[in-house]
Amino acid sequence: MKKSYFRPEIEAMKGYVPGEQPKLANLVKLNTNENPYPPSPRVREVLASFDYVQLHRYPDPLADELRDAIAARNGVKRENVIAGNGSDDILTMTFRAFTAPDRPIACLNPSYSLYPVLGRMQGAPVIRIDLDEARDFALPDNLLEQAEGANLLIITRPNAPTGNSFPLETMREVCRKFDGVVFFDEAYADFADDNCMELAKEFDNVLVSRTFSKSFALAGLRLGYAVGAAALIDGLFKLKDSYNLNRFTQTLGLAAYLDEPYLHECCARVRVERERLTGELRELGFRVVPSSTNFLFASPPDQDGESYFRKLRSEAVIVRYFPGEVTGKYVRITIGTPEEMHRLLEVTRRFYPAGA
Ligand SMILES: Cc1ncc(COP(=O)(O)O)c(C=O)c1O
Repeated sequence: MKKSYFRPEIEAMKGYVPGEQPKLANLVKLNTNENPYPPSPRVREVLASFDYVQLHRYPDPLADELRDAIAARNGVKRENVIAGNGSDDILTMTFRAFTAPDRPIACLNPSYSLYPVLGRMQGAPVIRIDLDEARDFALPDNLLEQAEGANLLIITRPNAPTGNSFPLETMREVCRKFDGVVFFDEAYADFADDNCMELAKEFDNVLVSRTFSKSFALAGLRLGYAVGAAALIDGLFKLKDSYNLNRFTQTLGLAAYLDEPYLHECCARVRVERERLTGELRELGFRVVPSSTNFLFASPPDQDGESYFRKLRSEAVIVRYFPGEVTGKYVRITIGTPEEMHRLLEVTRRFYPAGA
């Protein structure tokens, strides 16, 4: 047999499969948890006045202006913040820093499917901690016992694809007791009632990551960041690509970040639609997990997620389906505009008339 040039763990692994980005027009695209609204108008203004000549120079490798703004809003210092090319970049640095064949990673199941992929790239054992479907995907009581031996514990809060959150006090206890780094992936925290930022200040083993892809409506820009103890952030800087944030990202990201009222307005709108859709789907007999995010994890009356996914698709409404014994009963629906939600419900009612 021909020799493989790849490391055995790379040869053996499957790559991460991102959600589809269909090119067709007139789709109702509810599959990758983007914001249905445009980015802040400040982004357009700054983009319009962007001096293209600046592009002949490298960008600030440390993204200091952006990090200062993030630090100021969160009551920390610049040394407590690192920015990345999306929060995926932050995750990549984190896995490279803290996982190895003798340093396992623990994460929730179901959760963001990139974590096991990054773990395998490192050759690190991946401990998957099952959430309890019967209790709306709550954490198991023996979470810490199951995570024992891991060097990195990722808690996605609120979780994806399930949408639910976990009690803050339990999170504090986990940070206190876990003998390793606790990483809170807070990609969706702006849509939730609370977050773990205080824990990043309170404990020296905690990182909290955020993204501009969801609440800031900037998935196309690629920007994320993490906050944590200076020693942890300093370690991540060693692993960072030299110029991981281009000039557009730094400049436009800052403009969006400084427009806080617009952020709150977008999130409030999404939350209103989320609650409305939850109620309407439940009336049609769907099981809907209480959501603290900009999406719903919903199971149709016949619990056949795949068939609901296909039916919606046949009507040009694209949601996300995750095959699997538990996840296969559900689809994940991104909250869109009122018009998009109207269309989703119209199609759904045709397939599942209430009480049928
Ligand atoms: C839980 C979670 N973390 C991280 C990300 C990645 O976000 P980014 O676009 O910032 O790389 C996603 C994207 O869907 C996500 O769902």
